Amino acid sequence: MSTTTGTGRLAVLGGPPAFPDGLPLVRPTIEDVPGLAARLTAVLATGLLTNGPRVRELEERLADRLDVGHVVAVGSCTAGLMLAYQALGVRGPVVLPSFTFAASAHAVHWAGGTPTFAEARESDLTLDPVDAAGVLGRLAAEGRPAAALSATHVYGTPAQTEALAELAAEHGIPLVYDAAHALGSARAGRAVGGFGTVEVFSLSPTKVMSAGEGGIVATEDAELARAVRIGRDYGNPGSYDCEFPGINARMSELHATMALFSLEHLDARVARRNELVEVFRAELDGVPGVRIVDPGRGDVSTRKDLTLVVDAQPYGLNAAQLARVLRAEGVDSRHYYAPPIHRQQAYAGLPSDGVPSDGLPSDGGQQRALPVTDRLASQVISPPLWSHMDDEVARRVARLVVEAGGQATAVREVLVEVPG
Ligand SMILES: Cc1ncc(COP(=O)(O)O)c(C=O)c1O
Repeated sequence: MSTTTGTGRLAVLGGPPAFPDGLPLVRPTIEDVPGLAARLTAVLATGLLTNGPRVRELEERLADRLDVGHVVAVGSCTAGLMLAYQALGVRGPVVLPSFTFAASAHAVHWAGGTPTFAEARESDLTLDPVDAAGVLGRLAAEGRPAAALSATHVYGTPAQTEALAELAAEHGIPLVYDAAHALGSARAGRAVGGFGTVEVFSLSPTKVMSAGEGGIVATEDAELARAVRIGRDYGNPGSYDCEFPGINARMSELHATMALFSLEHLDARVARRNELVEVFRAELDGVPGVRIVDPGRGDVSTRKDLTLVVDAQPYGLNAAQLARVLRAEGVDSRHYYAPPIHRQQAYAGLPSDGVPSDGLPSDGGQQRALPVTDRLASQVISPPLWSHMDDEVARRVARLVVEAGGQATAVREVLVEVPG
């Protein structure tokens, strides 16, 4: 039997795998390894490995690019969020999506707040401002007003910045963006980075712009920026008379060098990833029950991930079954974000509206149901995507998705026989 993949039968049905050497989810893109190595060598030769000019240059360039007053480079997005929440002094509930990476909530907890979850939007999987408004209103009515509102630009898709700004203003609370995926994204022509009270990016290896590891805090608030700057250095303002208990969240000169290199290539990478999404889209066109998660019209997504929402009813397979089909072909994938945070062990028993004063999960609390989030978590799948991927690789993976749906009945039978 021949299939559109050109590999013959699907591997799960006994054919040879389309990618016998395996296709990882992510491959970091380094356009010029010798060039980057030379820059790193030059840094090593200076003997200045931290608190140096590369970090300052990175901060200046990003402040310029993002058009924000203050940028502070830190060791990771998680650390940046922790320091930002600490500086904001969040106590009590912080309303945020459950459909995001765990670190979005961990940072709230570490800073002394209580993660309090709201729904994701069906259309683009970012925080639903309507549901968030309901949670904020209920908390206020119960006399336990929220300390902050937070949203994530999931996959690089800009969140509903206008509605969320209104909501935060209405409740008089700071608005924190987990912008881990979104360095290079734009909302209505304006770079993500300048929205809300503060935005925090990740430069970890899975991100479109990477420093190896790292984070970036962007804000217009000079006091907040100063607190994060000192906070990344143990709370030490320079005198060793620490103003508050900070952490070591500095970015090294080597990481900043890699980030600067990455920044030079960021626009090309974002453009390329969006091209690859279109390659996918062309193949998936007309396949029932599979949609690509897209940013709003006029917005730009970094496409940190290429995420599909799979509706098993018309497609024939659910996201977990599709993942097994792909795995048999050698193709890695992830269910970002399953389980959603409110389903994770770390937050089991945390009443989403109940607020234990120490911010710790309390025994026996009942999570508020988040049916949209739960369903979306069961439907998402992100196949591989990287900035230097060839069209042909994207096309072949997309065709496997098409083929799997086309042969769903046979695939389901095999998967039932071989639980996995
Ligand atoms: C949405 C989100 N927030 C925060 C983080 C944490 O970033 P970092 O690894 O830089 O701490 C990640 C990491 O992937 C993420 O996806």
